[in-house]
Amino acid sequence: MYVTEVPDFRKFWYPIAFAEDLNAGPLARTLLGVDVVIWSDGDGGAAAAHDLCPHRSSKLSIGHVEDGCVVCPYHGWQFGADGKATHIPQLDPGLPIPPKATLRSVFCTVRYGVVWVALDEPVGGIPEVPEFDDPGFRFVRQFDEVWAAAAPRLVDNSFDPAHVAYVHQGTFGTPENARIEPPDIEFTDEGLVMRVLVTVENHLDIARRTNGVDEQQTVRTTESRLVAPFLRVMSITYPNGLRHLLVTGIAPVDDRHLRLVQWAARNDTEADVPAADVVAFDRAVTLEDKWLLEMTNPDYELELAQNVHIKVDRGTIAVRKIYREIAAGTWPGLGGRLLETAS
Ligand code: FES
Ligand code: CO
Repeated sequence: MYVTEVPDFRKFWYPIAFAEDLNAGPLARTLLGVDVVIWSDGDGGAAAAHDLCPHRSSKLSIGHVEDGCVVCPYHGWQFGADGKATHIPQLDPGLPIPPKATLRSVFCTVRYGVVWVALDEPVGGIPEVPEFDDPGFRFVRQFDEVWAAAAPRLVDNSFDPAHVAYVHQGTFGTPENARIEPPDIEFTDEGLVMRVLVTVENHLDIARRTNGVDEQQTVRTTESRLVAPFLRVMSITYPNGLRHLLVTGIAPVDDRHLRLVQWAARNDTEADVPAADVVAFDRAVTLEDKWLLEMTNPDYELELAQNVHIKVDRGTIAVRKIYREIAAGTWPGLGGRLLETAS
């Protein structure tokens, strides 16, 4: 499966930027092969549209923002958050703005300080992550970057606890811990939940500092939600009570690239562990996955017969089932809402 072959992927929300980055001007993003401009609406929200001026096809993302309107750099036409032109500098006074001077808007909202976009009317909502409304947790911004890997590959990796022993030998894995109990999998209305215990080797000082454990070895109790199709919310609990919640937003750029927008919530403080250390450790872990995944085949196998599976692979078998169903228009998730609108 190549992601652009599944039109229904256009009906989900994807996190594609940190809202604070819109303060510097409009941003260019590509989602499922569609070039999109996002800009601040001047009111704490964001707006998004196809990155194409209806006048002479300039990119709007290389323009600027004035009073919540994106201003085209070519002839200065301005467009409001609803996509309609609000000002055409060359127009004779008294003449109306042509109705066709309108951008092709896409769905856009801001939540958790993150900009979310859907190309077609979204079937689901923005995932609920109550920790971000809990004053006992702090927000830690992590990454916004493009990888040369297909989006399903990073999801697959995120529901594959067996890779830790090998891919993450530089941070918290060791081949000695290769044999693990198979994860517990439960399908949910939004996707699935995987629960698994992961033994953590503290190879690095920064690992000890960020998980607050002095011993060489500790254990993570993990619960990972897949919010279909490509978002993971992973809750990590350490024996000392530390919780590290990771939201891994994976937006398919095109068939061969993904945008990773990742942020964390933690129930400790900046004085306990500086955010820079939290980011540095998760960066080291993430680079180990990136190195491997950028060399994987972008054509993701949906049929189980295309791969070999063992018992520990339950998570990635379950992920494939969801993608098969979305691609076939039979996914029962979201109370069947996608089924009703299936293309
Ligand atoms: Fe955008 Fe002319 S191309 S204003
Ligand atoms: Co990994």
